[in-house]
Amino acid sequence: MGRDVFYITTPIYYPNDVPHIGHAYTSVAADFIARYHRLRGEEVFHLTGVDEHGLKLQRAAEAAGMDPQAWVDSVDPEWREVWARLDIAYDDYIRTTEPRHHAAVAKLLGAVRGNGRDDIYLGTYEGLYCVSCEAYYVEDDLVDGNCPIHDRPVELMREENYFFRLSAYAGRLLEHYEANPHAVQPDTRRNEVLSLIRGGLQDFSISRTSFDWGIPLPWDPTHVCYVWFDALTNYLTAAGYADDPERFGRIWPANVHLMAKEIVRFHAVYWPAMLMAAGLEPPGQVWVHGYLLVGGEKMSKTKLTGIHPSQLTDHFGADSYRYYFMREISFGQDGSFSWESMTERHNADLANGLGNLASRVLAMLGSYFEGRVPEPVIDGAGADLPVVVADVVRRYDEHMLALRLQQALAALWEIVARANRYLVEKEPWKVAKDGARRGELASVLYASAETLRILAILIRPIMPGAAERLWGQLGLEPPLASQRVPEAVAWGGLTPGTKTAKGDALFPRLES
Ligand code: MSP
Repeated sequence: MGRDVFYITTPIYYPNDVPHIGHAYTSVAADFIARYHRLRGEEVFHLTGVDEHGLKLQRAAEAAGMDPQAWVDSVDPEWREVWARLDIAYDDYIRTTEPRHHAAVAKLLGAVRGNGRDDIYLGTYEGLYCVSCEAYYVEDDLVDGNCPIHDRPVELMREENYFFRLSAYAGRLLEHYEANPHAVQPDTRRNEVLSLIRGGLQDFSISRTSFDWGIPLPWDPTHVCYVWFDALTNYLTAAGYADDPERFGRIWPANVHLMAKEIVRFHAVYWPAMLMAAGLEPPGQVWVHGYLLVGGEKMSKTKLTGIHPSQLTDHFGADSYRYYFMREISFGQDGSFSWESMTERHNADLANGLGNLASRVLAMLGSYFEGRVPEPVIDGAGADLPVVVADVVRRYDEHMLALRLQQALAALWEIVARANRYLVEKEPWKVAKDGARRGELASVLYASAETLRILAILIRPIMPGAAERLWGQLGLEPPLASQRVPEAVAWGGLTPGTKTAKGDALFPRLES
């Protein structure tokens, strides 16, 4: 696993596609995980970006009547805009057309070619190529003669290519996966990868001569590097492989490569073998989530089923969006989106659940204590709230580290549910009517406000905007970003006297 830094990546996306909620699913998950590790006080490196070379991109540029570089430059802002709207706090954004990436690809190719085992050699390839996948298929892979992923015709290609001797790495890959049972997760994906390797590996071509939009091979510039060899290398580039050995030593290997299942073969077979061939360590983990489906099929532009994230963020807001996809779908399984279920989650968990809790507590602090957090005078007035909080904090941590993102959020909302029930049980609005019970009122509202403080810290990785607003309404002084688990979520951190202010509702109710 990564040396000193928690290094997490998304795939780099093909920018010829219009960004859709399928792409955003990976990035939201990566951001949730990355922000959680930051909350634990770890140094984090969250990488994303775009995959700009290859035949598919060259053709898209031609169709637009543009030079490929000008064309990728023109679509890039569209992608960054999506991540900005979703509050994705990546640490680096890579474009494979950048000089730093060219340098890293050249260095990796040199390292593999120079390893003394003749792992790169010249051969001829004839095969059926899917331009959308940028990959060759054999007849058996095809479904009704079409690409099994894109359901589109493949093209017969014949080329003189350089090959990578993948076949020599089956044994080492198996050893690696046996020694590291979590290196591909979930287990179903791990088993698929193992059977793929056991089924025998064929060398794959790492160069193309049929088009020129790519990185020329340093020793034979009549060839450009195959787009997957080029793309995978982005994970090394951004870690400083070609230009910053000190940093590279601290960051590499990546802890987690996140992706959907269609590209597992590249990440869990090709990629670790390429790294081994270059004398580098394979990534700590390849984590494979499911597809977002529309009408039972993978959402995609080719099938015209893409929904742009802004269609949803404009209506629900970024926090609700992030929460919904992580809470609704089991991370690792396929799932579908619907307006109805998103509205339902928003109203139940956010508007009525957390939002209502915050507005009730802040309103009562306003009415009964001029907005100031009162002194808790009765021991144990918080009932089991401190125990529930401590228990959830522990389970939330376990779930997040194991990437059980859905369970992590379900656990957090146990606090919300318990705190709302606590108010119903204690009925502070009735206690307030009896002057003799002032101490009890103070103690109940202290416990409720303290729960909100802790929630603001814990929800920040998934709902950074709402967390900030809640923190602000609670009138808390130190920046929310400086709070760390577990210290900051120990019970009793809220200082009596703090001046709160009920603001706008955290989550307005939405009509279905
Ligand atoms: N450029 C390659 C990846 C190179 S990584 C070295 C690529 N790009 S892609 O844009 O086609 O898809 C990248 C990723 O987007 C998928 O692996 C997945 O993480 C995400 N998704 C795209 N469509 C998706 C769904 N419908 N559902 C879930 N995730 C989806 O492949």
